[in-house]
Amino acid sequence: MSLKNTQDINQATLIGGGVIGGGWAARCLAHGLRVVVTDPADGAEEKLRTAVDNAWPALEATGLAAQASRDELEFTRDVSAAINGADFIQENVPEREDLKIEVFEQIGALAPADVVIASSSSGLLPSRLQSRCRHPERLLIGHPFAPVYLLPLVEVVGGEQTCMEAISAACRFYKRIGMRPLHVRKEIEAYIADRLQESVWREALHLINDGVATAAEIDAAITGGPGLRWAFMGTLMAWHLGGGPGGMRHTIDQFGPALKLPWSHMDAPELTDALKERIVRGCEEETAGRDFSELERRRDICLVKIQQVLAEHWYPPGEDGWPEPDFSAWGISD
Ligand SMILES: NC(=O)c1ccc[n+]([C@@H]2O[C@H](COP(=O)([O-])OP(=O)(O)OC[C@H]3O[C@@H](n4cnc5c(N)ncnc54)[C@H](O)[C@@H]3O)[C@@H](O)[C@H]2O)c1
Repeated sequence: MSLKNTQDINQATLIGGGVIGGGWAARCLAHGLRVVVTDPADGAEEKLRTAVDNAWPALEATGLAAQASRDELEFTRDVSAAINGADFIQENVPEREDLKIEVFEQIGALAPADVVIASSSSGLLPSRLQSRCRHPERLLIGHPFAPVYLLPLVEVVGGEQTCMEAISAACRFYKRIGMRPLHVRKEIEAYIADRLQESVWREALHLINDGVATAAEIDAAITGGPGLRWAFMGTLMAWHLGGGPGGMRHTIDQFGPALKLPWSHMDAPELTDALKERIVRGCEEETAGRDFSELERRRDICLVKIQQVLAEHWYPPGEDGWPEPDFSAWGISD
């Protein structure tokens, strides 16, 4: 099927302008695109513009495209006006399957067939989301990570009806706006990264529920140790090095037996009101009344600096082990 070429994408249309929509807006603007956002909520435009303004200093620090301008941001409540002129559509409405299916039916009817429609869903199955969309072959998941304007990972997942050209076109577009697409080749709920995040989250809830640790203690156990490595190594590579010169073979010999011990829970604990309160209070104590936007600003500075250090000292793209999507088997070249 014929889809828009990456170099012909001038306008990104965003459906939903909350946390994630605002993040996409900032990233796309910083890469010199025109951005049109639609959102029915009261005060949505003001929130969106504030989010973009808050993201801008970090984006300036990472380097803006020559033609990047916040003046290229347009907001409308009218969905068909937002779709008009769209070269790429990214949906960011709340994580409810019924709502998303309805939204895709609506925007699929309005958007020309050569426009890719991506969903920011954190875990829903694209085969279900595309069920009522016109030209479902151009619908896929493009799952980003907050803050979208700084984190490069985007998981690209196709459904049963998605064509490989759409996956490849989305990957090329995301690369153009500075991202690192990871093609999740098998459609599963929660994809890859959220399965991993969810397992850590589940264990954290058990540790709080069992009175073992507070929110701050759990976060300290991550940020002082594994978290520092995870910025560039991931669990498998970290444990490969953790095994010393014997590598992963030695790690498995040494820690393999622990897999049989009851070190982790598979099921989530019941999210009782008492547990919810302990988690929320724990996070409030951890942040010690600090201003939320100040926390976001410091987070952004750290994310920019960490990525600058990695660019300087870690392996360059292509040599860093990142699994670049390969569509050559489908006769699609980059
Ligand atoms: N927050 C995260 O960390 C995160 C990370 C990755 C992916 N996601 C996914 O991104 C999506 C959006 O999440 P969020 O955190 O931005 O939520 P959010 O609540 O901050 O924003 C959702 C926005 O969608 C708007 N909306 C509701 N119905 C709409 C409609 N019919 N048309 C247009 N806009 C509509 C709401 O008014 C709201 O502003 C979800 O699918 C979520 O799973 C979230």
